[in-house]
Amino acid sequence: MKKSRIKDISLAKEGALKIDWAEAHMPVLMKLRQKFSGEKPFKNWRIAACLHITKETAVLVRTLAAGGAQIAITACNPLSTQDDIAASLALEGFYVYGWRGLNNNEYYENIEITLDLKPDITIDDACDLIFTAHTKRQELLPNIKGGCEETTSGVKRLKIMEGEGVLKYPVIAVNSARTKHLFDNRYGTGQSSFDGILRATNILIAGKTVVVVGYGWCGRGISARAKGFGANVVITEVEPIAALEARMDGFMVMPIFEAAKIGDIFVTATGNKYVIAEEHFKLMKTGAILANAGHFNIEIDVISLEKLSRKKRTIRPNCVEYTLAHGKRLYLLSEGRLVNLSSAEGHPSEVMDMSFSTQALASLFIVRNHKDLKPGVYEFSKEDEQKIALLKLEAMGIKIDSLTSVQKKYLSSWQEGTR
Ligand code: ADE
Repeated sequence: MKKSRIKDISLAKEGALKIDWAEAHMPVLMKLRQKFSGEKPFKNWRIAACLHITKETAVLVRTLAAGGAQIAITACNPLSTQDDIAASLALEGFYVYGWRGLNNNEYYENIEITLDLKPDITIDDACDLIFTAHTKRQELLPNIKGGCEETTSGVKRLKIMEGEGVLKYPVIAVNSARTKHLFDNRYGTGQSSFDGILRATNILIAGKTVVVVGYGWCGRGISARAKGFGANVVITEVEPIAALEARMDGFMVMPIFEAAKIGDIFVTATGNKYVIAEEHFKLMKTGAILANAGHFNIEIDVISLEKLSRKKRTIRPNCVEYTLAHGKRLYLLSEGRLVNLSSAEGHPSEVMDMSFSTQALASLFIVRNHKDLKPGVYEFSKEDEQKIALLKLEAMGIKIDSLTSVQKKYLSSWQEGTR
């Protein structure tokens, strides 16, 4: 294996402090680490991960390593790597490939180097590692026992691969676990997107019109937080049920052509392409701020924005002003890449505790069950969801009730009705 490719190893000390901080806020994953340390379930297993290189990811990496795994990690986004964390992991002896601001060639080069580990398990955030293994590195496929996928955009790609019969190994859709999307996508994205928007702009949200494009779990979280800040929240949707839900959650719902005219801040969270495009930029008010919370940088049509603009200048880190015809100014955050990880630090540790505990148990599931699994996309175990939720409640000092024997009996019978 090639030694790590990172920005600056001298940042390791700073990174280590941040990882300590994350560990203090990830009690469930730390509990799993304790268990893995004793049992070594990943002994002789090689894991290649393509994830955001953050302090929380470092806690996952250390946890899998404590269970005996050999690990190589590469960045899953050009702008999300925290260089101090990458340095710290490299100093600890992990194979790390990533730095903030790498270009597209470097990005895929690093993925290929990571695959040189000849992994037994792949862990992805948006499927670029699996994609590369299935295209440029097919010789590795027979050795891969399974994979885990972290995010909605990745699960979408995997399901299409499965449908076309090209997916060559089993992959657990970690994103579909309730311990992931109900918390990470909603509360994680809800908070961290505003963290990113505020670090990049430091504007007041109260009194602004925030347009949230897409009302999936991320959109729901972003809208709830925008409302909490005192914004007037507008939702745009293409899916009728989601649109109705948004309306009954108390938000205005309208087509993007209408919303484009009134929005002060636009946040995309659809997982789809060009949901804000040239025709919308033309309708926007001067001063409008554009941010993307989806995984890929395709939701805002940045190419058209570049073409439309006459002048471009960086106002502050991660905030670029585009001047269009008639002097209209639009502000694009983080180049249209995911704003929470590019302008801030991603989701807080407490929420990643649940997401990465789900990842850790999904990896363990592959170790234990891979011989019985065919290529395809698998749901995360319901039993493990409950285990994670109970551990999280316990860590938060929250006790809940359990069913009485009368209630259990009632729930398993059909004879008792009106009385
Ligand atoms: N995705 C969103 N937030 C993240 C974080 N803090 N670490 C890793 N992946 C993330």
